[in-house]
Amino acid sequence: MEEATFAVASQQEGFEGTGYAGLGKLSALTTPSESINKLAHELLSHHEHKTTHMAPENMPLDAAAVYANEERHKAELALFKRIPLVVGLTAELREPGSFKTMDMVGVPLLITRDKAGALHTFLNACTHRGSPLTDKPCGKAARFTCPYHAWTFANDGRLLAVHTQDQFGQFDKSTRNLVELPCTERAGLIFAMLTPGLELDVDAFYEGMLSEIERYGYADWHYLGSMEAKAANWKFGVEGFLETYHVPVLHRATLSQIASGGRPPAQAFESFGPHLRYLSATGEPIEDLRTLDPQDYWTREPHNFRAIHLLFPNVALPTGFDVIQLMIMVPGANPGEHTTLFWHITPEAPKSEEEAAQLEANRQAMVKIIVDEDYYINALVQKVSDAKTSFPLLLGRNEIGLQHFHQSLNWYLNGDERAERPKIGPSTHEGPSTVA
Ligand code: FES
Ligand SMILES: [Fe+2]
Repeated sequence: MEEATFAVASQQEGFEGTGYAGLGKLSALTTPSESINKLAHELLSHHEHKTTHMAPENMPLDAAAVYANEERHKAELALFKRIPLVVGLTAELREPGSFKTMDMVGVPLLITRDKAGALHTFLNACTHRGSPLTDKPCGKAARFTCPYHAWTFANDGRLLAVHTQDQFGQFDKSTRNLVELPCTERAGLIFAMLTPGLELDVDAFYEGMLSEIERYGYADWHYLGSMEAKAANWKFGVEGFLETYHVPVLHRATLSQIASGGRPPAQAFESFGPHLRYLSATGEPIEDLRTLDPQDYWTREPHNFRAIHLLFPNVALPTGFDVIQLMIMVPGANPGEHTTLFWHITPEAPKSEEEAAQLEANRQAMVKIIVDEDYYINALVQKVSDAKTSFPLLLGRNEIGLQHFHQSLNWYLNGDERAERPKIGPSTHEGPSTVA
């Protein structure tokens, strides 16, 4: 009997057909990392043993409860309002006077760099009667004049002028500056909290991960632009970056060709509190590491392996491509919808029109693979979840990244700070093989 299955449309094309082409501009790292050495050692060992980093057991998950429940979704939105979130890149707001606007879980943001170079994140809402100050996605402006009654604000948030104040009435203008949210930048990333007055301590929240990301030097990279896509529940978007199990199947005609030669690439994980990163092999044979002193394994990134980071809860940051694509999964108003923001950076500005055109083709291709393949399947799983009947799913031991993500999210949603925090344990090399 024949097997019943189906192929997503793009699986017919092949990676060649996607328009992606490497430019060989992978940036060289200059700072050693002991934990990268250790992970690379584990990755090499997994390849030798045909194993991968595994969780102690499988983890059940109820699709309706996790991806389609309104109460659960409200609790997740509330969580987004009390933890640090990535809201931008240093590279996109490098110039004094630059600004961008965005919607983060329904909160309209205006992010600016003032003339002294300081970054600010404001509510994009006039302190008179709440109109957004600008609807432009980005630009340069020293001042913002409200389109409703023409109050004017400086890009550092100060209320400068009240239109026809003689009629409006006198008040202390300094009490009506824009509402500012806690905001900072580190490792080329801009962080904010969506609730004014909360303490923003990124070192405490990211638990050592930012100094590891700092090594890539993204603060000095060139910003290519952003794209966005609407898709199903935000957690599906996150999950797609946490396991390589699906890569040789769902992406068999596209990513699999550059990533793994048709097998699920082994993964070597570590967690930083709720955040995580893992290494998996790339273009050159991972076995080449055997010729090196283990203290020098870090020098082979991104040639023999690359890292993918999850900045909990909603940012995927892969490394090691000519175009680095950060993906920010922004939950929508309902559980069944989210918007992914794709932000693209490259080591340096393109030097020719051809190079610029290829970088553009690369970023279009990267987004297209995710939208045509991952998000295509995610929409179908959303439909199943929306049936709102108990629908038990099972995460594999090899899907340890997903397990950590869901356990961390559950830890926050449970709200019991004394409960034991999820942590990815050390890697073992027990069989049977999950890579064969
Ligand atoms: S709402 Fe902005 S000036 Fe009135
Ligand atoms: Fe994928």
